Amino acid sequence: MKPYIIVFGNEKGGTGKSTLAMHVSVYLLNSGFQVGTIDVDARQGTFTQYLAHRKASPLSLTLPKHEAIAKSSLDDKEKIMADETKRFEQTMRNMSDCDFLVIDTPGNDTFLSQLAHSFADTLVTPLNESFVDLDVLVKVSGDNLKTMRPSIYAETVWNQRKERAKKGLKPIDWIVIKNRLNTLYSKNRGDINVVLEELSKRIGFRLGVGFCERVIFRELFLSGITLLDMENTGHQLSLSHVSARQELRELIDFMKLPHQIAA
Ligand SMILES: Nc1ncnc2c1ncn2[C@@H]1O[C@H](COP(=O)(O)OP(=O)(O)O)[C@@H](O)[C@H]1O
Ligand SMILES: [Mg+2]
Repeated sequence: MKPYIIVFGNEKGGTGKSTLAMHVSVYLLNSGFQVGTIDVDARQGTFTQYLAHRKASPLSLTLPKHEAIAKSSLDDKEKIMADETKRFEQTMRNMSDCDFLVIDTPGNDTFLSQLAHSFADTLVTPLNESFVDLDVLVKVSGDNLKTMRPSIYAETVWNQRKERAKKGLKPIDWIVIKNRLNTLYSKNRGDINVVLEELSKRIGFRLGVGFCERVIFRELFLSGITLLDMENTGHQLSLSHVSARQELRELIDFMKLPHQIAA
């Protein structure tokens, strides 16, 4: 059976792609699935590093089959594309026995990132609740908040959808979620939500609930554990941790992954 492929993408850094890729991977691992993880942001390598800390942990933690795919060192554009395609496809073959593949991508447009997007069954795009982040999805008029045209990242996804259609694959289920939400209400926030709702209908994504800003996400990296390991490893869960874990479960439910996950 072909692995189900989940890609975390947004042509913007610091929105939570690697953090959420790690949490979704651990959720799937701890649910008993065979999980392969791929880092095509090998330059930054956050996902790879988080998993390296996890592997080095003295605690007994679940681990995926992981590979990082570095950019090609060749100098000719055609050769680079051929080389990266070959290595990407080899990694996919190495992981063909997995139930799920989770792929983390960089915050900029690279050929490896495009390849990853073209294989996505589900694409999760986290963004901060700010018009700066929204700008990679859509150009918005400052006067009346009218959305003017989809921008670079929306176009990337659009192109990858076309690539998939050519291959006869089913469309990407594109999910956008807000991350690092501030609990305070602001007018800006209301405006962003209006634009996101309109945009979701126009360019075809599903808008999930999202995650609040919580310090715990920044504290776990070095230990290699996630919110989902805390209880098993003797950590005390605060109310904020429980709420964050609940948000993660809501994301997983919202993703409607294949039937295996129904349990
Ligand atoms: N919900 C959150 N609350 C607080 N900090 C977060 C949250 N999500 C991510 N972060 C932090 O934001 C920073 C960027 O996250 P990261 O996952 O590396 O983003 P990306 O992969 O999109 O560049 C990291 O320091 C991470 O720990
Ligand atoms: Mg990252």
